[in-house]
Amino acid sequence: MSVLHADKVSVAFAGLKALAEVDLTVSSGQILGLIGPNGAGKTTLVNVLTGFQAPTSGAVLLDGAPLTGLKPHQLRRRGIARTFQGGRLFKDLPVLDNLEVTGVGLGQSRRSAIAEAEAMLDWIGIADLAPRIAGTLPYTDERRVAIGRALMGKPAFLLLDEPAAGMSAQESRDLAALIRRIAADMGCGVLLIEHNVGLVLDLCHDIVVLDSGAVIETGDPAAIRASEKVRHAYMGTAAETDLPILEAGLEVAE
Ligand SMILES: Nc1ncnc2c1ncn2[C@@H]1O[C@H](COP(=O)(O)OP(=O)(O)OP(=O)(O)O)[C@@H](O)[C@H]1O
Ligand SMILES: [Mg+2]
Repeated sequence: MSVLHADKVSVAFAGLKALAEVDLTVSSGQILGLIGPNGAGKTTLVNVLTGFQAPTSGAVLLDGAPLTGLKPHQLRRRGIARTFQGGRLFKDLPVLDNLEVTGVGLGQSRRSAIAEAEAMLDWIGIADLAPRIAGTLPYTDERRVAIGRALMGKPAFLLLDEPAAGMSAQESRDLAALIRRIAADMGCGVLLIEHNVGLVLDLCHDIVVLDSGAVIETGDPAAIRASEKVRHAYMGTAAETDLPILEAGLEVAE
């Protein structure tokens, strides 16, 4: 059992408070949703949790031990993996090599990295994509490859930044099934950033809602659906896409 914890994390960019004393905890096997309007600070928080952004104050703790000052690759070796909002595959390399390179970067021999890469693609259900050049893949396949690459080395935590963006309803459901397996079968703690609030309410055990850098609500899906603060945050500032999706999630619930 592992626990990843953001302890009163604040980040300021030249006067702008992107995060203000944010607390968040994700544990092995848990799917934790992180939602909030555009610019709420979601990606910044994932950047802090993965060492891409130093907090202005506060700390990240893994099983109680502070991770202050560690670089992204060091945190990755300690089992904190992520995907990026924009994919970021090695576009000129075949899919299999994308995973293999990551395994080698984690200290595996080429032979064992290739074996794990093949097993991983098979486990995800995309073994047929192995020889394809990553840059030629459609968007949704690219996302699944990015998740496979992040799962190399069996991380304890997987942080997903908008993995369903641009997906159809069916593709989102398939992705949700994959995320459930990652948590249940691999025991991974998953932090899911997602604008599709219906998907988050359906999939996540617990949800943290950020607005303007601060946590405005934490709870299970029922509590989030019932929250006036959440409704207000989305109605007050959200992009056009957010509110109808929240409403759809609310309707499904009732
Ligand atoms: N490197 C940076 N320098 C300056 N400001 C930044 C930087 N990164 C993020 N910001 C600002 O911090 C705030 C939070 O941004 P962030 O990307 O974390 O939001 P987000 O919740 O991920 O939004 P989105 O839903 O659009 O992805 C925004 O106001 C953004 O403009
Ligand atoms: Mg973001």
